[in-house]
Amino acid sequence: MDTTSREYAIQQDSQDPLRRFRDQFVIPTKGDLARKTIKRNASEDERPSIYFCGNSLGLQPKLTRSYFEQYLSTWASKGVYGHFKEIGDTDLAAWLNVDADLQADMANIVGAKTSEVTVMQTLTANLHFMMASFYRPTQERWKIILEGHAFPSDHFAVESQIQLHNLSIKDSMVLIEPPSKDSPLIPTEHILSIIDQHASETALLLLPGIQYYSGQFLDMPKITAYAQSKGIVVGWDLAHAAGNVPTRLHDWNVDFAVWCTYKYLNCGPGSIGGCFVHEKHCQVTELNGAGAGSHSKLGYRPRLAGWWGSSKTSRFDMDNVFEPIPGAAGFQVSNTSVADTTAVRASLDVYKQTSIVELREKSLKLTKYLEDMLDLLAVEQEKTIGRCFSIITPRNPAERGAQLSVLLKHGFLDSVMESLEEAGVVLDERRPDVIRVAPAPLYNSWTDVFDFIEILRQACSKAVKTAPGTSHSVMVDGGKDSKGWSEIK
Ligand SMILES: Cc1ncc(COP(=O)(O)O)c(C=O)c1O
Repeated sequence: MDTTSREYAIQQDSQDPLRRFRDQFVIPTKGDLARKTIKRNASEDERPSIYFCGNSLGLQPKLTRSYFEQYLSTWASKGVYGHFKEIGDTDLAAWLNVDADLQADMANIVGAKTSEVTVMQTLTANLHFMMASFYRPTQERWKIILEGHAFPSDHFAVESQIQLHNLSIKDSMVLIEPPSKDSPLIPTEHILSIIDQHASETALLLLPGIQYYSGQFLDMPKITAYAQSKGIVVGWDLAHAAGNVPTRLHDWNVDFAVWCTYKYLNCGPGSIGGCFVHEKHCQVTELNGAGAGSHSKLGYRPRLAGWWGSSKTSRFDMDNVFEPIPGAAGFQVSNTSVADTTAVRASLDVYKQTSIVELREKSLKLTKYLEDMLDLLAVEQEKTIGRCFSIITPRNPAERGAQLSVLLKHGFLDSVMESLEEAGVVLDERRPDVIRVAPAPLYNSWTDVFDFIEILRQACSKAVKTAPGTSHSVMVDGGKDSKGWSEIK
């Protein structure tokens, strides 16, 4: 069969062992996206959109609505009893236990022991909580190494932590820049060489598992082991990795990690975050004599504490003795948002029907198909309208997740995004010139990819004619954005 035909895409979908999951999600229709109201009109386009934006906000599992109804009914009918009374006809835990209820399934997603994972706060807040515990600068070691193009929230969090210790940002923040101005990618060897340069003065290394802009999946085990061999604490931001690629946080000896649940984990906008603390850091020991805390006889890593991190058995004693729960749960601060954990429960109940390894298997194939189809389109365009885009994500599948970042010809972005939106394709842009295309293995299909390529072909043809400041003659030189980054082979 012609692997470039739509029939091939349909055949691949029919052979996809995970195809049943698509039906477990609410996929916005083209009509849904076009209309300015929530309520549907009778005569609108009911075909599903092509949703490639799970790297930003994942789609809603159908289970979520039914779990939310249970949560709302419990609140309505039981009031405060909902905290502690188990209820027969609900899939949800009593509110006092919703955090513990999620630990094992969330730990499976990131490759951790159950006790090493907790859900709490949000990603940036958790980054701060983790740095409060793990960034303890001394005269000898005070620097934090991160990437120069880190997600701004991570950059701000690091800057502010340095300031809170009355240190100079200039002397304390080491930014890893891509070594080539032609590429946003950061080779592992380059990261290791920056670590070498600052090793003896560095307290903390903070990197993204998957870089949000380029889609590069960093060599987490190698980088972690190397930095730790130099005495550096290693934390990872897994915003784009959790639920997307398999990680083995415990085995890789990662010190801490944080992630959000609204991307590949499909828990809804701004939903509660996840947090990993290696078991070696979150044990609670009996002390002889005076304790580490003001009244406690327990030894534990200092943290920004709150009552929800304190032992469940004494939490309501109101005696002001902090007895951290052993494990990551001891880093919790406030009582858990049950609205949020209801969404997490629904999401994990979908994930539980498969595994992150199975999902990765599909994801590798689907993203490779997207890459191949984009390459074919690029070749075709070079012969006709000139080059319109290039892929800046690593070409090696092991070095990327679901997302391919596509660098458009400078000046094309607005026109292409407008055409995609009109045709019911949802993906996101990173100005000035990049679109991020993320087929999520839980709900995207080969047919989605095929249809997207057809729509992109037309969008590029239109942009050639209409994009400001472009003409065929300038385009054929194409492929570089304003940062000068071009295609990575
Ligand atoms: C890599 C990365 N870090 C941090 C954040 C900020 O997350 P939050 O707003 O949940 O704190 C995001 C959000 O998309 C992100 O992609």
